[in-house]
Amino acid sequence: MRVLSGFQPSGRFHLGNYFGSISPNIEFQKSSDSSFFMVADLHSLTTLRDPDELRLYALDNVKDFLACGFDPNHSVLFRQSAVAEHTELAWILSTLTPMGLMERAVSFKDKVERGIDANVGLFTYPILQTADILLYQAEKVPVGKDQKQHIEMARDIAGKFNAAYGDTFIIPEPIIKEDSAVVPGIDGQKMSKSYGNTIPLLGEETDIKKAIMGIVTDSREKDDAKDPDSCVIFQIHKLILSSEAAATLSAEYKDGLPYGDAKKRLLSDYMDFISPLKAKKEDISDDEAQQILSNGAIKATEVASSTMDKVRKAVGLM
Ligand code: ADP
Ligand code: TRP
Repeated sequence: MRVLSGFQPSGRFHLGNYFGSISPNIEFQKSSDSSFFMVADLHSLTTLRDPDELRLYALDNVKDFLACGFDPNHSVLFRQSAVAEHTELAWILSTLTPMGLMERAVSFKDKVERGIDANVGLFTYPILQTADILLYQAEKVPVGKDQKQHIEMARDIAGKFNAAYGDTFIIPEPIIKEDSAVVPGIDGQKMSKSYGNTIPLLGEETDIKKAIMGIVTDSREKDDAKDPDSCVIFQIHKLILSSEAAATLSAEYKDGLPYGDAKKRLLSDYMDFISPLKAKKEDISDDEAQQILSNGAIKATEVASSTMDKVRKAVGLM
């Protein structure tokens, strides 16, 4: 079974990315026999304007992925921009995509509402994503809930192509973990880099400490009983604890664990949790990460160019 997924290198990874996307994706790739994972750098150009930041995040994200257990010998890790077929297929698909389909895209509306420029690339973003998926004839696409509509669009566009030119593409299916946790940010809203409320995934202790010490709490006094279920510190802490340890900590909250102490405990456990990952990341040089991406691009190009041959023939370009 062929699986493909991707992420935009639009910032450093945070804890929400880890539990919502990185960790489930790595687990999923381990159990599939043919999997492709892509740094969607062309997509991130729709919102990221700083070339140095794009270079930095692309490499930093790749190192995080490798440190978190992504195995480049088992799965193909590559940069979207290294495989020219993505943009070529996106153009061809755009000639089959009704305007009305793009106009219904929720993520476009969301981004514009948040003040991002309504550029044409942002509008046609789902077509490029469709090309990413169809080029590899991916059967399954593991994504977060926010990407559900994009995969539906990919299915729709693939169906239109097959109807117009004959069976060419596999119709992809999303894999969405409905029960995947929405990790709260330090202000209690969903953790997101657009809200400035993140805990960096493999950051420096000083930055992590600043974020954790800034977690919002209610006005219960030092020795009052606390409610772990509504406490953001506990909601984050339990993600990195075994169920037994989480149950013990929950009881301590009810017995009046002061918020200041709870934060110190979270910081200490969090640093323990990421310390092997950070050590692994430090061992990965820029050259090594680049080499993994170059090897990945060769393997990805083999598949992408064979699909594009079929597409060119089907539409009459060859
Ligand atoms: P951000 O909201 O910080 O911009 P992205 O949209 O780039 O994050 O997130 C990439 C993926 O990481 C998402 O598709 C989603 O699956 C996951 N993700 C992001 N934030 C969270 C969160 N707070 N909780 C759970 N998963 C998240
Ligand atoms: N749009 C996805 C996101 O923001 C990233 C992405 C680009 C992707 N191309 C993809 C995900 C193809 C799955 C398949 O998270």
